Amino acid sequence: MTRKFDGNRLLVATHNKGKLEEVAHLLKPFGVSVVGAGEMNLPEPAETEDTFVGNARIKAHAAAKATGLPALSDDSGLTIDGLDGAPGVYTADWAETGNGRDFAMAMTRAHDELVACGAAKPWTAQFRCTLVLAWPDGHDEVFEGVVPGAITWPMRGKDGFGYDPIFVPEGHDVTFAEMDRWEKNKMSHRGDAVAKFVAGCFG
Ligand code: IMP
Repeated sequence: MTRKFDGNRLLVATHNKGKLEEVAHLLKPFGVSVVGAGEMNLPEPAETEDTFVGNARIKAHAAAKATGLPALSDDSGLTIDGLDGAPGVYTADWAETGNGRDFAMAMTRAHDELVACGAAKPWTAQFRCTLVLAWPDGHDEVFEGVVPGAITWPMRGKDGFGYDPIFVPEGHDVTFAEMDRWEKNKMSHRGDAVAKFVAGCFG
């Protein structure tokens, strides 16, 4: 059985402002406010695993151990079928310039690789999100969310973050970056994972 989270303030082990705002918005109706790893001055641990759950566990357990509080982490990314699931756990790495992150560069790489390998359209893809809630005693719970869709080109829209401008969720014709951000939340991989977290912990 899922161990319940019974507090009203949750440490979210992320330094990503976009993720933190989305999780905060999703948990607000349950009376839970969030505090980010940045506000707590927690270091960002190296993500050395080759699975979403492995990296989410690293982040959640590091934060729980450092603070003595239950901590929720998010490891997420984009899997593109025509690229055999890439960039996957390397989604953020594709944006690394050595001097910060450039997501236009990362999205251009995804597009160029799809063209180079002659992938048939539609370029189906999924955003995936794994949430891990870890306690200081080492226990954890895992919640996984996914949203299917397709890669579009060129980039469209100004909202959201990361790869949102090239991802069109299934059943829609606008990208995540063209949607109202809270509309995105209702159908996103993160929304799906948070719904499972809420059902497990508050249900
Ligand atoms: P990590 O989970 O911090 O390793 O990084 C995941 C990366 O996936 C982020 O840096 C974003 O580029 C991308 N990503 C995750 N969720 C989303 C999303 O909702 N929209 C766009 N990009 C996302």
